[in-house]
Amino acid sequence: MERVALAFSGGLDTTVCVGLLEEEYGYDEVVGVTVDVGQPDEEFEEAEETADALGVEQYVVDAREEFATLCLDSLKANATYQGYPLGTALARPVIANAILETAKEHDCDAVAHGCTGKGNDQLRFEAVWRDSELDVIAPVRELELTREWEMEYAEERGLPVESGNEGDWSIDTNLWSRSVEGAKLEDPGYVPPEEIYEWTDAPGEAGEADLVEIEFEDGEPVAVDGEEYGPVELIEYLNDLAGAYGVGRTDMMEDRMLGLKVRENYEHPAATVLLNAHESLEGLVLTQEERDFKTQVDQQWSNKAYQGLIDAPLVGALEGFIDETQSRVTGTVTVKLEGGSARPVGRESEYAAYSEDAASFNTETVEGQNITQKDATGVAKYHGFQGRLANKVIDAQDKKTLATDGSGDGDE
Ligand code: ARG
Repeated sequence: MERVALAFSGGLDTTVCVGLLEEEYGYDEVVGVTVDVGQPDEEFEEAEETADALGVEQYVVDAREEFATLCLDSLKANATYQGYPLGTALARPVIANAILETAKEHDCDAVAHGCTGKGNDQLRFEAVWRDSELDVIAPVRELELTREWEMEYAEERGLPVESGNEGDWSIDTNLWSRSVEGAKLEDPGYVPPEEIYEWTDAPGEAGEADLVEIEFEDGEPVAVDGEEYGPVELIEYLNDLAGAYGVGRTDMMEDRMLGLKVRENYEHPAATVLLNAHESLEGLVLTQEERDFKTQVDQQWSNKAYQGLIDAPLVGALEGFIDETQSRVTGTVTVKLEGGSARPVGRESEYAAYSEDAASFNTETVEGQNITQKDATGVAKYHGFQGRLANKVIDAQDKKTLATDGSGDGDE
């Protein structure tokens, strides 16, 4: 008896995959696995109903805590890809691992996903699965299915297919972000209607400004407005709070791993508040050279996360540096939520690499350092010296050429 575990959402792709795994691939039994990374309740209801109707065993794995912890960890690397806080990308390895474990527990011979051959998710899932002894199956990609073909197949067999938004958009939701793509949104010039947004109110119509205080410990947010929250609750709370001010909408062109450019729309209120607050606190406690170097480290970390490769040795090495810096990222940031933005407006930390005394216009000397304003005179004299000298040399050479050929550089 051959069994296959399928990453199951109850959506069109995975619903069609159930039949195909039996008919085309010859499996005796399909086990549906739905991993909870914070999707809305309706998605689980839909998955359960569809699984029932199809007669497949279905397992739901709660990975919210693990996923939320990973999202908050990603803040330490100020993680974004081309401006997107990586919700879908960070969720995939968590989902893939949960499916693999469930597959093994239930004696499956293979694992399958319903991703197409055009997106990123096939790569992220398989990066985790290819390491196991189980067979990896991707029916949509391997059988080159189109959405139209799937619709027809489902209709012919009377399979239950999601109604929701009449299949207009393809939506991927988890705690960290909600992504909307496909249909009319594929035209980069098409201005999306308000109805694609569910987590954020229109920024123009949002309420008056609100201040929110985020407390960080070693680079991780632990409390909001003096109240401690666990990772899941903290993200949920901020999604609600900041979403009401229209915070965290991203409408962008995204370069996928295969090289395709796609138009993506995201909502991520909590991620935006936390990313802005975290970066602002780093600005207070890290030195200029640490901040400068860290932007490169952060970008490398984010790229690996986008690729679904957070287990790569490079990531561990980057985290060595990141964690070293985060031991000082402890303190509080006040963020103003207003008209679609989450702007840090105050920050404090016991690790502040900041001397009010030194920066102030009101003091004569830097205390304990024996440095006065006048000491900057020498620095000011040298500042830009090399450039001034080089410009003089260039001018002199230009004059020489002009004098010898009489016609400048001869281009005119
Ligand atoms: N392009 C994004 C990523 O690769 C998210 C895609 C989400 N999928 C969806 N059906 N909306 O991370």
